[in-house]
Amino acid sequence: MKDNLIVFDTTLRDGEQSPGASMTREEKVRIAKALERMRVDVIEAGFPVASQGDFEAVQAVARSVRESTVCGLARALGADIDRAGEALAEAKSARIHTFIATSPIHMKRKLRMEPDQVLEHAVKAVKRAREYTDDVEFSPEDAGRSEIEFLCRILEAVIAAGARTVNIPDTVGYNLPDQFAQLIRTLRERVPNSDKAVFSVHCHNDLGMAVANSLAAVMSGARQVECTINGLGERAGNAALEEVVMAVRTRQDFFPCDTNIDISQIVPTSRLVSGITGFPVQPNKAIVGANAFAHASGIHQDGVLKERQTYEIMNAEDVGWHASRMILGKHSGRNAFRARLRELGIELETEEELNTTFQRFKELADKKHEIYDEDLQALVTDANLAA
Ligand code: KIV
Ligand code: ZN
Repeated sequence: MKDNLIVFDTTLRDGEQSPGASMTREEKVRIAKALERMRVDVIEAGFPVASQGDFEAVQAVARSVRESTVCGLARALGADIDRAGEALAEAKSARIHTFIATSPIHMKRKLRMEPDQVLEHAVKAVKRAREYTDDVEFSPEDAGRSEIEFLCRILEAVIAAGARTVNIPDTVGYNLPDQFAQLIRTLRERVPNSDKAVFSVHCHNDLGMAVANSLAAVMSGARQVECTINGLGERAGNAALEEVVMAVRTRQDFFPCDTNIDISQIVPTSRLVSGITGFPVQPNKAIVGANAFAHASGIHQDGVLKERQTYEIMNAEDVGWHASRMILGKHSGRNAFRARLRELGIELETEEELNTTFQRFKELADKKHEIYDEDLQALVTDANLAA
């Protein structure tokens, strides 16, 4: 039996930190439902203390999601943790993720704290979070530039205080794959109680290394990867969920673990997130880009026609691409309409919702020759706003 690799999606938190990608409560709930359908293990829904709007969004996600754990972020401060605990009160399974920076530059210049004070805050925060839930995650922010001795000391202390997951962020995307793999290996070896917690990684993409670093860490024993749909996230983004999941799934000959992800939901969810945030997916993006399975050169086309595996290491259909696209217009019926919504990651909950949205679609189709994906996204968003 292979180990389980936990998928922690932070599209709704770190992804939302991409400049211009902020989401409404309703949009977060729609994405969270799509992530749940995809069988993501943990959904980080937001940072409840950041604003009343984000508090309500986390609360709404906690109420609507039943299969995935819902997580809220909190600095290592009592007020942050209480706010996260409150927002998650109705979740079936809740996690509080608390963090404090541990690198010399962050402790000295940003926090203006001594390492011992940082450690004290971290332990207190974990203990307070445990008053709300048993599922507490701790992150030493900027771990990728922190001193190994201090990291070992703080991880040992937070695990003893009750953190079940310790997440190692490469906050500024500074590490290289071999170096990051070595960091995870060393921490697992040197922290005396390391076997009491799941090691997680959270890699940023400043040098284009987020996915490579995450996968290298998995080979060193990390069993949770934090990632986002389409690699959205602060600055150059986070590790892309679709790339991490498909690398592990495609190379089962290499990895000692696998995820629970339903890969057929990858493309629909990517499109949903792109439609809601307005962040287009670059055509040559792995897995979800429009050209990811397109073949242009004559030699390649000839090879694929004879045997697909000559130039394809994955099946486009497996990740949710649909070979024959139906054109939607005024002659289209309800089934084609519903199928297209599904391809876009939109699942209408009731027959009544389907009927109303279909009616609006027909009205629009009378005015427009062809209905595009963006029109459908807008129809559903308008219907949500009107409800
Ligand atoms: O990049 C980072 O360090 C974070 C932490 C809050 C985990 O997003
Ligand atoms: Zn981050």
